[in-house]
Amino acid sequence: MDLYGRDLITTQEWSFDELMAVLDLAAKMKRERFSDRWTSILKNKTFIMFFYNPSVRTRLSFEAAATELGGHAQFMTPSAGRFKTEKKAGETIEDAAKVMARYAAGIGIRILEDKVPYYGAGDEMLREFAKWADVPIINMADDKFHPCQGLADIMGWAEWYGEGPGRPDYDALRGKKFVLTWATGALARSWCSVQEALLIASRFGMHVTLAYPEGYDLDPQVIEWTQQNCAEHGTEFEVVHDPNEGYEGAHIVYARNWMSPNAYRDGVFHKEEEIQKALQYPEWTLTAEKMARTDNAIFTHPMPVDRGNEVTDEVASGPRSAIYDIAENRLHVQKAIMALTMGNL
Ligand code: CP
Repeated sequence: MDLYGRDLITTQEWSFDELMAVLDLAAKMKRERFSDRWTSILKNKTFIMFFYNPSVRTRLSFEAAATELGGHAQFMTPSAGRFKTEKKAGETIEDAAKVMARYAAGIGIRILEDKVPYYGAGDEMLREFAKWADVPIINMADDKFHPCQGLADIMGWAEWYGEGPGRPDYDALRGKKFVLTWATGALARSWCSVQEALLIASRFGMHVTLAYPEGYDLDPQVIEWTQQNCAEHGTEFEVVHDPNEGYEGAHIVYARNWMSPNAYRDGVFHKEEEIQKALQYPEWTLTAEKMARTDNAIFTHPMPVDRGNEVTDEVASGPRSAIYDIAENRLHVQKAIMALTMGNL
């Protein structure tokens, strides 16, 4: 399996075997975290992290990943440069990408929420970087996809249904019921994490239930891919619009706020309007009562969690919460991605 030089924009664009190469290596790296086998893979190499939006997990886990592979992660924001936008003159993506690629073994980019003028603009920007840079472009969350989160999610779910940390069982996920529910919240989140979760859950053979109030449709292309993935596995894909429906028989419940398709208008992200609208749906908070109707499901969330809105503390901090294991897995899957796409393996 040769993944050297590959971009990673969404897991849907990598084959199942390619995803498994990452996940198998991530599990080995988790079991033997500081083994000499890994600590020189990025020796003398730099990974550039270009962040338009804030981050805790992504920034810290990529920095730690580069360190643990013997390399270095360099942080920059758009305010550090003079980049061309629709509204102001400056350096083009072509020039920025070609120059960054002269310094680095790979480039990670995050751009979403209020930093894009319309849905899809962030993903388009990553693909423009990928066109011009001759080193891998790694999506650190754009407005459509979050592949590193999706890989950490599936690894965490497979650990919980497998033999525990570092011992995931992906076959054990086949036929399990995955419920992704919209949740009220005050953060007006992009669609990247939930869309990646739909794609990866369906790719790994799970039944998928998607629950949300009318008016919170996701990207039709992602829904079509999810349906195709389910059809290939003979699993079910259902959509419900009742906050109390869909939990029966669930094994994994993912509750997360996301913005409505009306969030971007006239080149502007209407964040406050989205938040006020979302807060009118308090019945869409994940509670212990809802979890009690599942088949002893685990709770999953990419974090940061909007506690009290998206989910109660009782569930988020409960014995079936996988959130910290999954946050940890960001480190392991990203080490594996960097090793395979940029490293001297
Ligand atoms: N899940 C995730 O990407 O977290 P951050 O926004 O903190 O990076």
